[in-house]
Parts: sequence; structure tokens; C-alpha cells
Amino acid sequence: MKNIYNEILSDVYGARFQEYGATAKGSFWLTRQRQEVRFHIIAQEVARLGDGAAVDIADIGCGYGAFANYLLEKGDPEISKYTGYDICPQLIEECREQSQSIAFNFEVGSAPIFPTMFTVMSGTYNLSATSDIENWEKYVFNCLERCWTHTTVAMIFNLQIEDQSMISKSNIYYASKVAISEACIKRFGPAKVILNNEIPKDATFVIVRAGK
Ligand SMILES: C[S@@+](CC[C@H](N)C(=O)[O-])C[C@H]1O[C@@H](n2cnc3c(N)ncnc32)[C@H](O)[C@@H]1O
Repeated sequence: MKNIYNEILSDVYGARFQEYGATAKGSFWLTRQRQEVRFHIIAQEVARLGDGAAVDIADIGCGYGAFANYLLEKGDPEISKYTGYDICPQLIEECREQSQSIAFNFEVGSAPIFPTMFTVMSGTYNLSATSDIENWEKYVFNCLERCWTHTTVAMIFNLQIEDQSMISKSNIYYASKVAISEACIKRFGPAKVILNNEIPKDATFVIVRAGK
């Protein structure tokens, strides 16, 4: 089904990529260092929950493939299969062209198309396609629910945070940490929240399937 927000964002991210190429700035990140702190937090959680075994990952909003490259460079956690999904076909084309491993695949989409141990999103929902916070949060939770359906071990995502949820003039979405945690508990189960001094306006939410 076509979604108007996905269409708007695909155009915005596609144009940004056209202008800045495969760089942190091309994905609306301030610096590569901050982008990597987020990757580090996610990779550490996946490795911890995966208990040292090889894992499969769905990276929703994979952009130009920065997390895929990070995982290949670090080698921890060991990856049995990685699928990067993005709503922007131009970015998926770039990922496919640059792909360095046959275990790494890329698809246009906004949720996994088959059951996957870990579903992760870094910065995926930071740029809003509307100034209406209620509609944006509905969209975000609709996306999370579709991802959760195909997540067998854990879903891990980060959001920018503020005391109250809001959308800035430049359409950056800031979530309320407490409200998101409560909404996650209601829909999925308890959410662990990870904070890091290097990225003080960010929170990483980790939701583990019961019994895992
Ligand atoms: C801020 S960039 C982050 C890219 C990458 N995760 C990184 O950290 O380098 C957000 C990416 O998510 C994609 N995106 C936005 N909404 C999405 C959705 N609902 N499902 C899948 N991809 C989405 C955008 O096209 C963009 O490539």
C-alpha cells in the first residue's frame, strides 16, 4: 500500500543523497562520529542478546548502507544474514552497488519481509513528514508494529528526545522518553532505554520478545 509520508520522505532523502552523497550529512546526521556512537550502542545490544552466536538483522531505514559497513568492519556481532530496508529506491540502489558481502542484501521497504532475529532502526523516524505530532506518532507506531511482527528476538531503535514530544520548525521529531516507553509497554512489552553522554538528546529503546 502506498503511504504519503513514505513518498514525501523518500523524495527528501533522495534529494539529500543527491546533494551530499554517501556521507553522514547525506543522512541528516550532524557528524559521522555521532552516527557511529548510535551504531555502537545498537551493535552492542545485538551482540549481548545474541549471546555470541551469529545473528540475522533487519536494518530498517538503512540509508546509504553505513550500518552495514560498520558491522562488516567491526565483525562483532557476527552476522549470518543482514537485510537493509529503505523507503528510498535510490538509496537501496546505492547499497546494492556498494555491497561487500553476499550475506548482505537490500530491499525497498519499511518492515522486514520475513522473520528476523533483530530489527533495528537508527535515525529512521527522526525526520517527520508532517508538523502534526499526533499523526506522526501514529505513523511511527504503525511502522514499529509492522516491524515487531517479524522480529523474533528484539527490536532496537533510537529517537531524539525532549521533555515533551514535539516536531521542530525544521521537521525534526523529538519524542518523550516516558511516553514512548509507556506506548511500547502497551503494544510490545517492557522497553529498556539506553542513554549515552556523547549523544544527550538521543535514547535507544530495546524491546525483547518474551521468553528470549
Ligand atoms: C536519518 S537517515 C538514517 C540512515 C541510517 N540508518 C544511518 O544511520 O546512516 C533515515 C533513513 O531512513 C529512511 N526511512 C525513513 N522512514 C522510513 C521508514 N518508515 N521505513 C524505512 N526507511 C525509512 C530514509 O529514507 C533514510 O534513508
